[in-house]
Parts: sequence; C-alpha cells; structure tokens
Amino acid sequence: MVTMAIIGLGPRGRAYASFSKQYPDKLKITAIAEPIDSLRAKIRQEYDIPEDRCFRTWQEMLKLPKLSDAVAICTQDHFHEEPAIACARAGYDILLEKPMAPTADACRRIVAEVKKAGVIFSVCHVLRYTPYTYELQRIIDSGEIGDIVTIHHLEPVNYYHYAHSYVRGNWHNEAKSSFMLLAKCCHDVDWIHGIMKKKCVKIHSFGALTHFTAANRPAGAADRCLDCPHTVESLCPYSAVKIYLRDRFCIGNNVFPLTVISREPTLEIIEKALRETDYGKCVYHCDNDVVDNQVVNMLFEDGTTANMTMIAFTNKGGRRTTICGTRGEIITDSKLITIRHFLDNSTREVDTNVINDGGIASGHGGGDFGLTRAFVDAVEHHDQSRLVTGIDETLESHLMVFAAEESRRQNKVCDVVF
Ligand SMILES: NC(=O)c1ccc[n+]([C@@H]2O[C@H](COP(=O)([O-])OP(=O)(O)OC[C@H]3O[C@@H](n4cnc5c(N)ncnc54)[C@H](O)[C@@H]3O)[C@@H](O)[C@H]2O)c1
Repeated sequence: MVTMAIIGLGPRGRAYASFSKQYPDKLKITAIAEPIDSLRAKIRQEYDIPEDRCFRTWQEMLKLPKLSDAVAICTQDHFHEEPAIACARAGYDILLEKPMAPTADACRRIVAEVKKAGVIFSVCHVLRYTPYTYELQRIIDSGEIGDIVTIHHLEPVNYYHYAHSYVRGNWHNEAKSSFMLLAKCCHDVDWIHGIMKKKCVKIHSFGALTHFTAANRPAGAADRCLDCPHTVESLCPYSAVKIYLRDRFCIGNNVFPLTVISREPTLEIIEKALRETDYGKCVYHCDNDVVDNQVVNMLFEDGTTANMTMIAFTNKGGRRTTICGTRGEIITDSKLITIRHFLDNSTREVDTNVINDGGIASGHGGGDFGLTRAFVDAVEHHDQSRLVTGIDETLESHLMVFAAEESRRQNKVCDVVF
C-alpha cells in the first residue's frame, strides 16, 4: 500500500486521488493541501482524512515531517517549482503535473534537486500511458512499418475547449500561466519525442493569436454573453450561453467544460458564474494573449523529421497522427490505428477505444489511470524504470518546447541544447 498526499485539489488533484477509490489496496490518500476551504472539507470527507492531515497550503504541510510515501503536486503551472523542490528535499516521491515549470531554468533546477534527493519522479505526461499509445508503440517496435522517417501530428483543441480554457479560463494569459505550446502541447512534443526515441537537434515554429482579439468583436456585442443582444449572441459559436447552457446544461449534458464551472451545476450557479467570472465574458473582450494556431517542425539527429500543429478551430477532439515508415504508414485518431503496408498493399486496423464512463479509467483516454498505476507501482518497488519516462527524457521534451517557442518569437531555427 502506497500512501500519497495531494497538493492542490482542482480537477487534476482529484483525478489522481480517485485512483485510491478504485484500488484501495494499492493507494491511500493520507494528507491534502488546498486553500479553498469548501473543497478541502469535501475531499477530506470523501477520503476520510484526519483533520490534522488537512492543510491550507503545501507550505504548511511541509512544516511537518514526511506524511506519506509520495506526493502529487497539482497546483497551477507557475506554482510547480517551489513545491517540487521542497518535496524532493523532504524525501517525497513526486508526481508533478505538467508542465514541469514555465521556464527552462526552473525545469533544470527541479531536475537537479530530484536527482540529488534520489526520489521517484514523474511529470504527468498522461498521453504516454494510454492503452492507445502502448499499442501503437508495440506495433512500431515490431517493425511492421519499418523505420520511422516522419510524423505528422495534429492537436485539434476544439473551438469550445479553446474558448473555455485559453480565452476565458486558466491558461488564457501567458504571464498568469504558460505560453500555449507549453500549456497544451508539451504533451504532444513529449509524445512525438517518445515515439521517435531519438534526440531532436533543431526546431522551428510559427504561430499567432489571429481570431480572439478586440478587432474581431462583432458590432453590437456586449462585454458579457448574458447581456449580448440575441441577434448578435445567437450567431456566435463561442457564446458562453451556447457553450455552457444551450449545448450542455439545457440538454442535461453535465460534461466538460460545464463541470469546471460546477461539479453539480444548477441554472442559478451557472448564471451567477456567467455574470461574475471570466467564463461569462465575450471572447473578443478578454485579456487573452496565447496563440490560437501554431506549427512546429522538428529535425532529429539522423535526419528524420516530425511536425505538429495546434489549432483552436476544430470540432472533433482526438489527436490525429500519420506516421510514415520505410515499410508502411500508420494513420490514427488516437483510438483507431490503421496500418497500411507497402509490400503487399494490405491494410489492417486495431481499435484501442477506451469506454468513456467519466471515471479515472477513461480520463485522457485511460492515461490518467495508466500513469497513476505506473507511478504507484514505481513508488511501491522504488523502481523508476516502472515509469515510461525518466527525468532526463522529460527534461529533453520540455527543452524542445522552450526552443520551439524561442523560434516562434524570434523567427529563427533554434538548436535544441540539452
Ligand atoms: N496532465 C494533464 O493532462 C493536465 C490536464 C489539465 C491540467 N493539467 C495541469 O494540472 C495543474 C492543475 O490543473 P487544475 O485544472 O487541477 O487546476 P486548478 O487551478 O483547478 O487547481 C489547482 C489547485 O491548487 C490550489 N492551490 C493554490 N495554491 C496552493 C498551495 N499553496 N497549496 C496547495 N494548493 C494550492 C488551488 O486552490 C486550486 O484548487 C496545472 O498545472 C495544469 O496545467 C494537466
């Protein structure tokens, strides 16, 4: 039985904690730190945690001697470095939410402290732990498509997800969180790096915020969607009234992103949120500055390549990838893997669809569950190799992201220096 403390009880902290409900013989949540009183009280009750193991902040928690084997650090992006370093020094095995930190220097400082402490460490790159990725990797490792020469990868963020998280929500403004590639696509760059299994030497990127700006505000639009004249609001795909009420609450569909506003929404709760929080603001009247489209080109050490596109303007989730090898190609939508062979022109399909029941087993295509299981296993056996990614590899993929962003800003091809 592994014991774990959770720092930050937002959706991510709660997702990892929920593993202990399904596998009480494997994981027990023994301490929590969270400044929001109501949230802390609710989770305390849900997991039956003693009062003297519930803290307002991680700083208060770390004043006491080590309280558990491991800790999950699930605070916002800017608040990863300090707790990660403090927890490493205190000897906790660490599950750290992505991104590791918003700067390359901060990532390097975390890595140095974790190595010094010799603790188990994993960044939550959940895509690496999905049944889909495991199966894809198995197919590639079998040599079925020969050697990979290029990867073409699309992260279709989705128009409503982008409006919710990157125009109105937590990741809308770089200074307050992270730049877009780090916030959303450190997963994708890490995943591509994992599939290629080699060093990226050069990287190049273009991208911009093109649409969600004051210049594109329709004539007559109000600052808040609830106040917008119906003639304007009803023509806006990004309307908060449409996204949270018409497309979800009003048809009994209590799913993301409505669940971020409230886990148990009522009309009153939603209307209050749309009146008082950024989630009710016109998308052309926010202080957002992160890009809504970005392309990244990667050159690997042996001349092979990959490219990745992040785009807000899609209406179907699920990353889409084409992997071109010397003996065949793979085309996937993160569920169905289609393999086309060159030798006999045959095609075969492997369906890795995970049943989406909203539980941890389905979160991020099974990645939340896969990661938590691997982390708990690594902690139990004190064996870092039970995790798919080690600390150096994770640092490498973060450094690729920082180099890509430098390229985008400075309009130049950047070397990736490890
Ligand atoms: N792995 C993934 O796929 C994935 C997906 C979404 C988000 N994330 C990352 O997970 C992290 C958390 O995301 P979230 O959506 O749960 O965020 P959130 O803002 O909802 O939750 C963070 C929580 O930390 C708490 N907190 C703030 N200061 C604290 C302190 N000093 N001590 C303890 N708790 C403190 C906040 O009150 C809040 O409840 C972010 O870094 C985000 O980028 C990862």
